[in-house]
Amino acid sequence: MRLAFVPFLAVAVALQPAFCTPSSVLKPRTRTNSLLISPAALPALPSAQQAASASADAGLNLTNIQGDILIGMKKNKELFFFFTIINSTLFRSQLGSGILPLITPTSQLLAVDTQPTTAVNLAFSQRGLTTLDITDDLGDTAFANGQIDNVASILGDETSNWESAFAGTSIHGVFLLASDTVDNVNATLSQIQALLNGSITEAYSLQGEARPADQQGHEHFGFMDGISNPAVTGFSTPLPGQQVIDPGLFLLGETGDTVTRPAWAKDGSFLAFRQLQQRVPEFNKFLVDNALSNPNLTADQNAELLGARMMGRWKSGAPVDLTPTVDDPVLAADPQRNNNFNYSHPGFDLDTDQTHCPFSAHLRKTNPRAGLTPENTANHIIRAGIPYGPEVTDAENASNVSSTDPSLERGLAFVAYQSDINAGFAFLQQFWANNAGYVFEIDPIIGTDGLGQADVPRSPSGLDPADPTRIITIEQDFVVSRGGEYFFSPSLSAIQNTLAI
Ligand code: HEM
Repeated sequence: MRLAFVPFLAVAVALQPAFCTPSSVLKPRTRTNSLLISPAALPALPSAQQAASASADAGLNLTNIQGDILIGMKKNKELFFFFTIINSTLFRSQLGSGILPLITPTSQLLAVDTQPTTAVNLAFSQRGLTTLDITDDLGDTAFANGQIDNVASILGDETSNWESAFAGTSIHGVFLLASDTVDNVNATLSQIQALLNGSITEAYSLQGEARPADQQGHEHFGFMDGISNPAVTGFSTPLPGQQVIDPGLFLLGETGDTVTRPAWAKDGSFLAFRQLQQRVPEFNKFLVDNALSNPNLTADQNAELLGARMMGRWKSGAPVDLTPTVDDPVLAADPQRNNNFNYSHPGFDLDTDQTHCPFSAHLRKTNPRAGLTPENTANHIIRAGIPYGPEVTDAENASNVSSTDPSLERGLAFVAYQSDINAGFAFLQQFWANNAGYVFEIDPIIGTDGLGQADVPRSPSGLDPADPTRIITIEQDFVVSRGGEYFFSPSLSAIQNTLAI
């Protein structure tokens, strides 16, 4: 066999044990365009060959790991279909032969010609696993207790804002269906529902969608998102400035995961889902009302500058640490440079100087980089979310107020993968974003008072580079948590050998 001319997937299939050859790998492929988006600012995914070689060195099996975990924020359309299992025996009996062939492993997403029409991933809440009679302790208390247990004291959410499905007990699992069209997603959902033959019912669903035209890749406030996910050993080659993190921080049982788990849980990951509503007109009004006063900038540019300092990046994605007063779209679109910073500069006091980037900036709060010595390698997540909801309407723009019409709600369907929720998402939210005592201020984008009350005024310093002591008070939350749940995204072999009967 002349390996050099054999596509990676054929080699992978030939080399994998039986559980790693789901028929989805073998089914007819009709794709000529990617189901993923690829804005220039975002790190490119490794090619199938690069990933095969890196994963072989690290002992990662990319045909066994569900595809959403490592690929980041690149989905075009994605449906989160939350379900209740009403007949667990029937459900389990359909999982192996019916659903498993549809589940998309990482290896399949890396080249267009191996991508399915719709990528399918599946994850379970603790309640869902219990319903399936899976009683093993996966070693994560946050997962075991469910997100509702974290709601006020840890995450700082006001419970009354939660979607009733997240506050209730009906969510047993979630299908994540990603494609380039909503029609494809809906067709795959119908196929799954037919296969599951009435064993599940819909508990709730949320349709995510990349924003249109030149806003593709940008979240609803307008900022390019998904640039600074960590590089994972065994998967991606690090770009300049990108932190390299052990796979075990995201995948159970891999190097860096120190918790004892049931053997079948290996190569699964905990998925923290959050429906985060964004009050875009209110955010825009705040920026205009509190625009900075750099004499070299126009009023609009001064409003943009304030937003960039709250986020830590300009809307283009250029980091304010590298370009503090003017946006630099060329830098933003260059993955070799757009993540290559750590907040330190020659002759610069990292502990007091906020001229480049405020301590409170969302980017800095959620990853302080050189602000911690040694640089933190314990508290990382892979963000894999997608915007949801329509663009701001003219009426909302005119009134500067978000509509109360539920069909006009917009925000971020936030997804974070980690092997330890209390060290990952929950840590970042509680101990960094919500913690005014940690690098001085509450995150102006996602921070709350940490006690479960909405719209508690926050007073970050450092937003105005001309006078870092100036307090610009934020009276209301621009991001409102509508709730969420913690899930376990099992490996393909776990679905076949443990969850299916
Ligand atoms: C609606 C809510 C949110 C919005 C609009 C938002 C927006 C953004 C944007 C625009 C970036 C910069 C792009 C990038 O570097 O990838 C970013 C980075 C980041 N965000 Fe968020 N985010 C939200 C929620 C969250 C939450 C809930 C967390 C975790 C608790 C989080 C953690 C992070 C992390 C870790 C980074 C990268 C920091 C770095 O490595 O430098 N974000 N976010």
